[in-house]
Amino acid sequence: MQNYIKKLPFSIVIAKQYFSFADYPAKNLLKIFKTVQELTSFRTFTKGSTGFVPTMGALHSGHLSLIRSSKNENDFTGCSIFVNPIQFTNPEDFEKYPSTLDQDLKLLEEEGCDWVFTPSVLEMYPKTVSLKFDFGNLENVMEGAFRPGHFNGVAIVVSKLFHAALPQRAYFGRKDLQQTLVIKQLTTDLGFNLEIRVQETLREADGLAMSSRNVRLDQFQRQLAPVIYQTISFLQTKILEGEKIEEMIAAAKYNLLTVKGLRLEYLEVANASNLQSIDNSYKGDIAICIACYLGNVRLIDNVVFMKS
Ligand code: PAJ
Repeated sequence: MQNYIKKLPFSIVIAKQYFSFADYPAKNLLKIFKTVQELTSFRTFTKGSTGFVPTMGALHSGHLSLIRSSKNENDFTGCSIFVNPIQFTNPEDFEKYPSTLDQDLKLLEEEGCDWVFTPSVLEMYPKTVSLKFDFGNLENVMEGAFRPGHFNGVAIVVSKLFHAALPQRAYFGRKDLQQTLVIKQLTTDLGFNLEIRVQETLREADGLAMSSRNVRLDQFQRQLAPVIYQTISFLQTKILEGEKIEEMIAAAKYNLLTVKGLRLEYLEVANASNLQSIDNSYKGDIAICIACYLGNVRLIDNVVFMKS
């Protein structure tokens, strides 16, 4: 019997393993899938709703808050850990991207995540992908402008992950605001039958947005890093007080020039639903977005608020 099971495809072994229990799929046991076939076979057996949290690993509390939201809203929760090479525009950023797989798996198990998908690069990209997405004006600004091709890489991997995971809901952080807008457009345009849920940014006690890249900051850079959130919070306050947007951006940029070791890439105030620029008469949801380098670590953050 053991020999017979060894010869079965992995998905059938899983089915055999779990169908012998009444509470299939077994809870409190993190199932690990490494191939698309394993994951899709498993998903065809799962009843009820599945929430999905795509990540690149090096998990922190921000990622785990997405897992918790999914668990609150779905019968099953799955996560992917895949450092997607085709969304990196800087080879050093890709090479230095932190990897803490053992710790990640432990955290996911503690959170009660039901499954995790950890494919290899070859599994996700057996051939070079030639498909090109064009998100129009949405990707001509901010991250899209400074990292050309980035959102194409994100859209390709997220599409492939959605096809493999077949979720009813997928969870993303507002920390990557432009990414959430691109993925919403992708979902609508390609007709993925799922709901995109966007969750608030989790921050350290000093305001720094949690990010997998924060571990690459040295002690000095880490002490400076809260200035990023302080800057966008300052701008938010001033805009709500009725100050002129252009003048306040100029003041904030001038202030950042004095921060040693910080190099600003962009600081923008925009319409939060399409990231296009606004003037002082604009009323509605506003996004203040920032990207900067501390040393060679690139960090982004944003705040979204309503101006009436
Ligand atoms: P990654 O940077 O690992 O982030 C995975 C998810 O966690 C994203 O939706 C991101 O917005 C969210 N997240 C990151 N920091 C957060 C924080 N401080 N608070 C709340 N949520 C936070 O984003 C990606 O991976 C990739 O581009 C991916 C979508 C997985 C495609 O490769």
